[in-house]
Amino acid sequence: MCGIVGILASRPVADILVDGLRRLEYRGYDSAGIATLVNGTIQTRRAVGKLNALAEKLAHEPLVGTVGIGHTRWATHGRPSVDNAHPHFSTQVAVVHNGIVENYHSLRVELEDKGHVFKSETDTESIAHLITDYLQQGLTPQAATAAALKRLEGAFALAIIFTGHEDLLIGARRGSPLAVGYGENEMYLGSDALALAPLTNRISYLEEGDWVELTPGKAVVHDEDGHIVERKIHQTNLSGAVIGKGEYRHFMLKEIFEQPVVIGDTMNALITAENKLSMPPMPFDWKEIPRLSIVACGTACYAGMVAKYWFEQLAGLPVDVDVASEFRYRESPMVKGGAMVVISQSGETADTLAALNYAKKHGQKILSVVNVQHSTIARQSDCVVPTLCGPEISVASTKAFTTQLTVLLCMALHAGVARSHISEAKASEILQALREIPAKINEVLREDHKIQELSQNLADAKDVLYLGRGLLFPLALEGALKLKEISYIHAEGYPAGELKHGPIALIDESMPVVVLAPHDALFEKTASNIQEVVARGGKVVMFTDKVGLANMPTKPFWVSVLPETHPVVMPILYSVPVQLLAYYTALAKGTDVDQPRNLAKSVTVE
Ligand code: F6R
Repeated sequence: MCGIVGILASRPVADILVDGLRRLEYRGYDSAGIATLVNGTIQTRRAVGKLNALAEKLAHEPLVGTVGIGHTRWATHGRPSVDNAHPHFSTQVAVVHNGIVENYHSLRVELEDKGHVFKSETDTESIAHLITDYLQQGLTPQAATAAALKRLEGAFALAIIFTGHEDLLIGARRGSPLAVGYGENEMYLGSDALALAPLTNRISYLEEGDWVELTPGKAVVHDEDGHIVERKIHQTNLSGAVIGKGEYRHFMLKEIFEQPVVIGDTMNALITAENKLSMPPMPFDWKEIPRLSIVACGTACYAGMVAKYWFEQLAGLPVDVDVASEFRYRESPMVKGGAMVVISQSGETADTLAALNYAKKHGQKILSVVNVQHSTIARQSDCVVPTLCGPEISVASTKAFTTQLTVLLCMALHAGVARSHISEAKASEILQALREIPAKINEVLREDHKIQELSQNLADAKDVLYLGRGLLFPLALEGALKLKEISYIHAEGYPAGELKHGPIALIDESMPVVVLAPHDALFEKTASNIQEVVARGGKVVMFTDKVGLANMPTKPFWVSVLPETHPVVMPILYSVPVQLLAYYTALAKGTDVDQPRNLAKSVTVE
């Protein structure tokens, strides 16, 4: 949430700052702005709306300067407006910020009493004035920053420039991620390595409480206690090329269509040609784990819910799945010798990270499933099993989810064999079914026009209910989330068996009910639920396979027939039609599919 960049160079930086922000726009798109030093004085350009509005402004009112900072905003304090857009500044300091300063109000009152004049409603502006106050007391920019950081409560990643200091850029991190990039006599700051990819592949990451002083060609990192520390420089393999949509209308559609390839890449890193698992060494012995906790947020948490079924059925391992924002404050007792699986595409989700830290503090080993290499969650885990789906740009997660499922299934099989709950032969049979998933997804994708036709039935709905049982129940939740996020239609996911315990009261002709009902062990029960909906005038959109359709006593209103597959891997296959259904419904409604209102990717504030 909110993307920040900073550049210290000997060439004009305005355009490079905007290019960096373009790569961070997925983090927020309410407003954007940059500040540079022009003849030693702070100059800003800020605009409401997407980054293009800022780029247009800069085309008419260019900004020179060889040191600068930039920001793309997801509003927390203060509505999107030019005054609330970052950078926030005084005559001496300009700041961009990702995070929330929790004590901003008391700081503001204190600083206003001293004569500082605030121009915005944001929490961030208090940082600019606080540093200014210390400068006015005679402190150097470095000392003023260090003093101000001590007074801030909450979470932040900051990039700061100072009037009259063209060869200085300061960054700081507590709670929100910040990467430092090393160029040829140029230095950079960015919310992630992707923002800096066209500039450098040499990246280090600030640790909790660090702040960094960048001067031409040099970075000096100070830790929370003021000691100068070294932070490892990593070589990233991110491409500097702009990530485009190719032939697709939206990133979301492109990412849905990439799934056969990225699921293949992810499984090929974990399965040998002979269908044997080759997992990285685990930080524990699966046999000794009494209980597994899984935490994540949103879509990643639904992947965790599917994994619960897998770990329990395939490995006989009891599992608790929690939404990270609840888990982190619940003071859950942790079992001795237990382990936690943390799932996150970005590797930076604030609540997930806090849950990880709680579990670590309580003696749990941390195994994470993360997409962004070197992200904070990846760095803080005992073992990372990566999803190899490449950068996910669409705010609504698709390929990250199916690659998370791929990794989690491999993990559950690994645990199952290690715990002698299933035989190697059984594991190989399931791995073979997993191997066939990319081809089956391709079959679904080839017929996406049929799902587009189905979506016409949802576009006018005000509410939609999604039902599924067993492994397909979390998919009902995921389908409803996808629809809400990008089409703004209210949707709810329910276990089909819960229908009679309340939601059936909602059924009428105006509310489509999407039912995920492959012909599995629970099919007959779900088929009965479909009859109950139909009997009350409800309109069912059924996703099933050939056998499922043949076994329906009365055919539902709308049906989509998917390829048959092994019941264990069904959630991976059934992810794709629910993604397409949400996508095409949003398309029919004309919403902003890749950047839905009010949302942002990488939720780095709680
Ligand atoms: C939904 C979506 C979110 C994320 C959630 C966790 O489409 O993208 O629900 O899944 O914010 O994000 P990560 O996986 O980055 O921790």
